Amino acid sequence: MACKRGALIVLEGVDRAGKTTQCKMLVQALQQSGRPAEAMRFPDRTTTIGQLISAYLEKKSELEDHTVHLLFSANRWELVPAMKRKLEQGVTLVVDRYAFSGAAFTSAKPGFSLDWCTKPDVGLPKPDLVMFLQLSPAEAALRGQFGNERYETRAFQNAVQQKFELLMKDPSVNWQVIDASKSVEEVHRDITVHSLNAINIAENIPLGQLWK
Ligand code: TMP
Repeated sequence: MACKRGALIVLEGVDRAGKTTQCKMLVQALQQSGRPAEAMRFPDRTTTIGQLISAYLEKKSELEDHTVHLLFSANRWELVPAMKRKLEQGVTLVVDRYAFSGAAFTSAKPGFSLDWCTKPDVGLPKPDLVMFLQLSPAEAALRGQFGNERYETRAFQNAVQQKFELLMKDPSVNWQVIDASKSVEEVHRDITVHSLNAINIAENIPLGQLWK
């Protein structure tokens, strides 16, 4: 008999909400409880496309705005065969950013509609759960300075937050808002509860297609 599939779990949120830390903690906790789990992140800077994106984010190169948007999307699509293989093997994937960051960040630029920004990612594997780590700009500011990469300014992050709020109105996606102002351990507990629930449900239903 085929094994039960893993769940596709995504963490999104503004800068310094703790996504990367929480992804690591979740993968570790799932593994320790005997559930196969692996971490992924987008952009995946290790591929050829990912290296183009990385140079752009580090401001070592310039790319036209539509072009870089499509590269971010291509970077997800190139990983889809590997993602599907893992999920079919019963591995739960915990993903740090996904198409929602793609749509939120580009649509925060002038002249980009949210609708256009979602299009290249239509049909990607649909997450079973998307957790949005919510942190107010004031609380984020208490966690230190922004980094030096592109997009790491207060004004742009505020615009991105507003776009995420629009994306979260879409009932076709299983969004859960997590209060990221709590302690690391408390946030981890909240995330684990939602994740275990999503893993149990995903076992019995086929993987969906995003925004389709
Ligand atoms: P990170 O590697 O620190 O998560 O940063 C990646 C940056 O790229 C972050 O500013 C968000 C942005 N981004 C996009 O603009 N589009 C995308 O599709 C993704 C995944 C990230």
